[in-house]
Order: sequence, then structure tokens, then C-alpha cells
Amino acid sequence: MADQDGIQAGKNFYVDQAQENKGFFVKGSNVYDWGMKHRLSRIFNPKSGHTVMLAFDHGYIMGATSGLERLDINVPPLAKHADVLMATRGALRTSIDPCNDKAVALRISGGSSVLREDMTLEYLMVDIQEAVRMDVACMAVQCYVGSKNEAQTLKNLNTAVNLGNQYGIPVLGVVGVGKEMERTPRYFLTAVRMVAEMGAHIVKTYYCDDFEKIVAACPVPIVVAGGKKIPEKDALELAYNAISKGAAGVDMGRNVFQAEDPVAMIQAIRKVVHEGETAEEAYKFYLETKED
Ligand code: R5P
Repeated sequence: MADQDGIQAGKNFYVDQAQENKGFFVKGSNVYDWGMKHRLSRIFNPKSGHTVMLAFDHGYIMGATSGLERLDINVPPLAKHADVLMATRGALRTSIDPCNDKAVALRISGGSSVLREDMTLEYLMVDIQEAVRMDVACMAVQCYVGSKNEAQTLKNLNTAVNLGNQYGIPVLGVVGVGKEMERTPRYFLTAVRMVAEMGAHIVKTYYCDDFEKIVAACPVPIVVAGGKKIPEKDALELAYNAISKGAAGVDMGRNVFQAEDPVAMIQAIRKVVHEGETAEEAYKFYLETKED
């Protein structure tokens, strides 16, 4: 075991100096094979370099929540405005028309629910053949760094990366925070970097202070989770701050499908992520677009 005394926190992250991309626009992906790059170019728009992912995989831990009571009714009007659909295989097969051009981020880990005190124990639940069969653009694996189940969830991640690299399917490592886990820049700096170094091709995490340092220290693209429902204006501010500090996109769920007008909300998020609008401009668009 490494000597843990005297670990020195990182100081210089060269936040003004972007990591160089040689030959391909997605951060850290120069060496990947063609299939992996092709899938990444379905996730990240080659023009803006960004992505709007619609997360509606909540049912795998939460069951039927507000805004997602009916996958077949609630999701399709939103899906057409997303670049990526983040979902479970059950939701996709039953409720999403396969005749669409959206990339899929398939949730492949699971095992605990909101009904348990501790939700951090997960296993890989979906095999690689399912991912190939469902033509997914990436596979999402939850990672609970710092939890008592840290090692199991990182084993899940590494297994998925080993398989993903064989088949050319990127892995989205999702930095999850349990009820008792900290949500500090120090925590996210550690967790994000660990997940990236274990081979995740994309990292999903939460926005926090010093976010530009976390982006700089992460050698692959970061997409930011929405988290619990907050006012629409604040959610657009969150998206704007994340993008302006280097995030490659957002992966929002509740702040879209629990918005007063979910369709207007996802369109407003696109304004920030793909068109460089400020949160104020996008909120004005939201108010003008939303149905009374
Ligand atoms: C949770 O682990 C799931 O991956 C959700 O998709 C994720 O939390 C994003 O959804 P929300 O924006 O509602 O937090």
C-alpha cells in the first residue's frame, strides 16, 4: 500500500491550457479505434463538441417517480430534443421507438434501491451482448468512490471497460454520491480522476466549486448531472456554469422531466449547451416557449 502520509493536494492544474486533441475532437480519445470514435461522435455533436443527454434511467433505483410515471407518454416528446437517451434496457425496449436517430447510453449497473438505507452496492446487470444487440453508444456504470462498496463498483467499472474496449463501446463512469458521502471539490477531484484513470471514456459527475480544476485534471470529457429538482432558472445557471468551466455536456433528468414545461426546458438547455447562450437568454427562451 502506498504511504498515505504527506499526500500533497494538486496545486497547478493549468486551467487556462486545454488538453490537446490530436486528430479527433473528443478529449482524450486520440488513440481509440474507429468504432469507439464513431460512437463518441454520436454522443458529442462534432460541431459544438457538446452533448445534451436526457437521463430517464431513474426507475432502476427509484421506480416510477414524478414526471416519469409513464415512460411511453412522458419520454418521447423530450427524446426528440436530446442527443443521447440514458436509459435502462427495459425502458428502451418497451417505450422508445427504435426508429430514431438518438444515441443510447445504456444503464448496465444496478442492484440497490431508494428503499434501502445504503444504495451503494451495485453489480453489472447487463452483459456486453445486450449492449451490442441494442446498438448502444455507451454503457453507464455507477461508481461509489469513498463508500463501503467502492471496490465492488470500481470492479464493475473495470469489467465494463475491459469489455467495452474489446467491442468498441465507450463506458460512461457515473460518480455517484450516497447519503453520507461528501460533495466537496476534494471528493470530486479524487473520484473523477480515479474513474477516468480506470478507463472510463466519459465521466459523469456533479457540478461543484473549483469545477474548472476538476475538468482540467480529468483526461476525458465530463458531463454534469442535474441532480434533484431546482427552479428552472437555477438549472439553466448550473448548465451554463458547467459548460463555461469546461464540461462537455449535461446529463439531466429531474430538472427536465419535473420542470413546469419539460419540452421547453430541454430546448432551453440545448440553447446553453450547443448555442453558447447565457442562462438568462435561455431562461427568457424558456418563458417565451413554455405553455401556460
Ligand atoms: C442516477 O444515478 C441516474 O443515473 C440518473 O440518471 C442521474 O441521477 C441523473 O438524473 P438527475 O439529473 O435527475 O439527477
